[in-house]
Amino acid sequence: MSRIISVANQKGGVGKTTTAVNISSILAKRGKKVMLIDADPQGNASSGLGLEKDAENSLYDVLINDVDIESTLQDTDIKKLKVCPSNMSLAGAEVELVSQMSREQRLKEKIDVIKDEYDFIIIDCPPSLGLITLNAFTASDSVLIPVQCEYFALEGLGQLLNTINLVKKHLNKNLEIEGAVLTMYDMRTNLSNQVVKEVKRYFDDKVYKTVIPRNIKLSEAPSYGMPITLYDGKSKGARAYEKLTKEILKNDEIRNNQE
Ligand SMILES: Nc1ncnc2c1ncn2[C@@H]1O[C@H](COP(=O)(O)OP(=O)(O)O)[C@@H](O)[C@H]1O
Ligand SMILES: [Mg+2]
Repeated sequence: MSRIISVANQKGGVGKTTTAVNISSILAKRGKKVMLIDADPQGNASSGLGLEKDAENSLYDVLINDVDIESTLQDTDIKKLKVCPSNMSLAGAEVELVSQMSREQRLKEKIDVIKDEYDFIIIDCPPSLGLITLNAFTASDSVLIPVQCEYFALEGLGQLLNTINLVKKHLNKNLEIEGAVLTMYDMRTNLSNQVVKEVKRYFDDKVYKTVIPRNIKLSEAPSYGMPITLYDGKSKGARAYEKLTKEILKNDEIRNNQE
């Protein structure tokens, strides 16, 4: 059974891409077959894994030109991890989709055909709640929400949860919250501790025990085109993402046993 997870928060710079790239890489290193879909026109997940942005086919062609996901996939340095890349052209898709039939279902239709070949499909969402994100939510089993430890961390989360509920009601009744993960935690500041408490109150048992620390290695790795496990597997950042991935796998196991 495959699990399709959107990594989303309409705020930019909260750690979506860092989380999507690193959990995808760690799942693949642990032997899972993983597809990472870069759904942000910025293409940071693609470049963060060392892929060229001028790929012949990208997510844009999947959404607009009826190209199969399979033909966009690029290999990475991790054998079991494949990427559907994106680039600036995807920004146009947000506009072009508006006038199309079943415009929220495009990605789901494409993923449905190949999902059984993967254990995990991770979608790195753009910093908005537009049609690309709606496509991601419609195609997903769940949403993983990175929350940055900063002032106003909770700002916008109501709108995000509202969107998830609307998708549940109209487009994908099975959509769940996978979990919220606190990112860029700085243990030296009181603020971080305060945010952790607030987020735990807000999401209740849906917050991961693992908190991702602010770690310079995590921010350096993408410029070398590497996930943290390849760039510095012993760093605090790498260990934190290993722990988070274990939690995700554990929850998956519990869920599968219940079914
Ligand atoms: N835990 C972390 N420690 C230090 N820097 C981080 C951490 N997580 C993300 N960053 C950096 O912060 C910036 C924003 O992160 P990113 O994952 O791109 O966020 P988003 O995808 O939500 O916009 C990037 O430069 C990234 O390298
Ligand atoms: Mg991003």
